[in-house]
Amino acid sequence: MPLIDFPMKEQHKTDQRECRIIHLSDLHYDGRNLGILAELISHIVRLAPRFVIVTGDIADGPMGNFAVPAAMLRGAMKDIEGYHGFAPVLRVVPGNHDLYYKGTYGLRSTRKFYRAFTEEERGNYVSPQSPITIAAFDSNQLYEPRGGFWRKSIQLARFMSHGLIIERDLDAFSEWIGDIERSRQNEDRRKSLKIAILHHHPMPTTYSFLPRLADESFMMLESAGTFLSRLIEKRFDLILHGHRHHPQFCRASYFDHEGVENRITVLGCGSSAKRSDEWTRSVGRNFNVITLLSDGSVRATQYFKKGRSDFLPAVTDIQIREPIQGDVHDNPTVERSTGTNGR
Ligand SMILES: [Fe+2]
Repeated sequence: MPLIDFPMKEQHKTDQRECRIIHLSDLHYDGRNLGILAELISHIVRLAPRFVIVTGDIADGPMGNFAVPAAMLRGAMKDIEGYHGFAPVLRVVPGNHDLYYKGTYGLRSTRKFYRAFTEEERGNYVSPQSPITIAAFDSNQLYEPRGGFWRKSIQLARFMSHGLIIERDLDAFSEWIGDIERSRQNEDRRKSLKIAILHHHPMPTTYSFLPRLADESFMMLESAGTFLSRLIEKRFDLILHGHRHHPQFCRASYFDHEGVENRITVLGCGSSAKRSDEWTRSVGRNFNVITLLSDGSVRATQYFKKGRSDFLPAVTDIQIREPIQGDVHDNPTVERSTGTNGR
């Protein structure tokens, strides 16, 4: 009997014991990359995931046309439902280009992004029918409201392409996941795959060159320490991010406040559909496929499109979580709760 039991009628015919997640990022839709976006969408439909996660920079600017990529993503969900009999869950977080002019200047503008995606699509995800829990974070805040005058002043004076998750949102997250964890059995808690999604990278990426205006201090998540601390405390397994246009995979171990060692994996997605920049010319375009198997193990494959090639899977098989040992429980019992995480 499998450790994690997925409802059969909702499964892809050929992968009845897998839960697949597709992770896209940095689409940078500008009206001229429709072809690449269409190619990407066809892969999503073919792979028939249960979840589609987009970690920001959907449009190239806050005044861009969000309606087109939003409609294409929802169209993929409908097609999958038509072909495979289940509708995937869509989750989207904003990137700096969705909220600031050229991702860097001006006042934070959420209007078009918020209109294009529903509160549910921008929120957290948990369901009694699913072994996946998703916490969505807006990492594009300008300054920490609880900071002092000088801290706020310095934060406001910088480029806005760097990342910041404010403490209020981290508190909302801790409260939300704390309520869910209290309602779960120990075994359900252990089996669940907990994923945090945000735009900015909380750990440095590795690369051998930096394009212009790509200084680390303009790009990193400023609040990475407090963010990781909250995730470790709540036993999160995986962080999905975008922003750098450079795919990455890394893992770290931290001790929580009880002295228990916790391992967390960070999987970065490059740009999935941007027309062209130094990064896409160097590493290509990218999306990730994460698969939760019925023994509780989790693996990921990165797909790359270089030049005019199709998106092709890389040979490297990334292991995110080992199979889970222990008692078998087939019916996870968790409370349904979909929050908006402070937005
Ligand atoms: Fe981007």
